[in-house]
Amino acid sequence: MKIFETISSTQDHIQSLTDKHLRIGFVPTMGALHEGHLSLVRRALRENDHVVVSIFVNPVQFNNPDDLKNYPRDLTADVQLLEPLLKDDDIIFVPSVAEMYPKPETHQYDFGSLATVMEGRFRPGHFNGVGIVVNKLFRIVKPHAAYFGEKDFQQLAIIHRLIVIEQLPVQIVPCEIVREYDGLAMSSRNVRLTPEHRSFAPMIYQAITHAAANIDLETPEELKMIIVKTLNRIGLLEVEYVEFADETTLQPVIAWNESDHIRCFIAVQAGDVRLIDNVPCPKQLSL
Ligand code: PAJ
Repeated sequence: MKIFETISSTQDHIQSLTDKHLRIGFVPTMGALHEGHLSLVRRALRENDHVVVSIFVNPVQFNNPDDLKNYPRDLTADVQLLEPLLKDDDIIFVPSVAEMYPKPETHQYDFGSLATVMEGRFRPGHFNGVGIVVNKLFRIVKPHAAYFGEKDFQQLAIIHRLIVIEQLPVQIVPCEIVREYDGLAMSSRNVRLTPEHRSFAPMIYQAITHAAANIDLETPEELKMIIVKTLNRIGLLEVEYVEFADETTLQPVIAWNESDHIRCFIAVQAGDVRLIDNVPCPKQLSL
């Protein structure tokens, strides 16, 4: 495995692989790696000849300066996790902020209504920053396929849109959410939860799975109210939003028959830590 800090060394090595017609899989990350990230890396390794993992805490996608400051960073631990998986010619790309942003970024993407709901509404500028960095990374790595987790389901929709806008020939591979033993979606931010918040955090997944299993009984609005009440009652969790939305357009539904593919999306503040999750809703049999 090679670790590169510069764009040119990364590109040179990738070029030597693509010259041999080898297929490149790419897993972009912000580090503080966990099993969720590693599941993407394992899949990329299975489906490609070589894999590039990027580790870069992208400042332009943070709308909250404290979140950027407190974002967990541990390159030594990340490399230790990746070392047993990656082979000789696989790459970890760890650029500095100056390497990625030699000059300030001003580009504005128009992701339309995909970026005005849920995460887009509560984290203004976030998806623009994601678009900027993923576009840069795609142009550096030129992967055949790139792997993204459904944990950030809205981000996946934005990436699909990004490759259309930028006309990039990359196959986007969505990967299932990896959870802790108690259902909490794995996240780099989980290490920042206090023991008390950590013990109640699995209720987020429980509440949305329970709701998704009961769509025959209540309207979307009623189920949203039940989820908010259940979680806010604890006193340690505060629901920022909960939505039932179409999986492709991400627009909220007010009736179950508005879409065949509905997901329940949630964002919750657990002390200082913001957690997101989502689950698919089964198709309604009675419709
Ligand atoms: P990061 O939060 O580090 O996540 C990197 C990738 O891992 C994303 O595709 C994310 O959806 C996936 N991932 C995180 N937790 C997961 C889980 N529990 N199960 C499955 N996949 C999971 O997402 C980002 O970084 C950044 O926005 C990035 C795309 C790298 C751009 O900066």
